[in-house]
Amino acid sequence: MIKVIAHRGSKGTHPENTLPAFQEAIDVQADGIELDVQLTRDGQLVVIHDEKINRTTNAKGWVKELTLAEIKELDAGSWFSENYKETRIPTLEEVLELLNHNQFSGLLNIELKTDRIEYLGIEQKVLRALEQADLSCTVVLSSFNRDTVRRLKALNDTYEKAFIAFGNKNDLAWLSKQPDIHSFHPDIRWLRRHIDQTTDIETIRPWTVNKEKEMQFCIKHQLAGMFTDFPKKALEVRDHG
Ligand code: G3P
Ligand code: MG
Repeated sequence: MIKVIAHRGSKGTHPENTLPAFQEAIDVQADGIELDVQLTRDGQLVVIHDEKINRTTNAKGWVKELTLAEIKELDAGSWFSENYKETRIPTLEEVLELLNHNQFSGLLNIELKTDRIEYLGIEQKVLRALEQADLSCTVVLSSFNRDTVRRLKALNDTYEKAFIAFGNKNDLAWLSKQPDIHSFHPDIRWLRRHIDQTTDIETIRPWTVNKEKEMQFCIKHQLAGMFTDFPKKALEVRDHG
């Protein structure tokens, strides 16, 4: 059965990539959780989507130019709703702790946000954090950056690796030449037009699947998973039509 994966936590109903958003995903019994990681100036893994803090906090600047202590000062909840005032940007370690605390045994997709900034050594750091966490969930590591995907593959054989793409012929050609990468995370808008080009790919999980029509498309094509901002709704569509 297709897995419903909460995109940046339950992004539609909670401030994205925060502990309340991940807790909500667990509470609604999403099959999986997706999050994005970047590195602070002092080399700490933090869970945030944008390279800048502008959109999702009360301040401005680049993640890579702030220390973890400075990042921890930020309010990452008020922009979404006053109810989440003072919610902090979590470290990857804090999210892994939350998952363990809840005995989460679903799928955890960690996206390495290296498509605009290289973040030297981020692959090793993510792998180390996972080693130390002793998780009971299934981990999938992904990136838009082909070098990151290749590096992850070279460094580690345990976890599934996935290539994320907006989708075009180049992406598919590259993927077909990677003997060890069998998972593709494309843009749902592209996939709906080009599903016939993906028949050779073992595992497909598109993003961001928020409309019921898109959910039905993914279910009909028996895809492995779908990333959605509304996991509760997606579960209803999948389980009750
Ligand atoms: O990993 C799937 C999806 O999260 C990729 O897009 O921009 O939401 O990280 P984005
Ligand atoms: Mg992502």
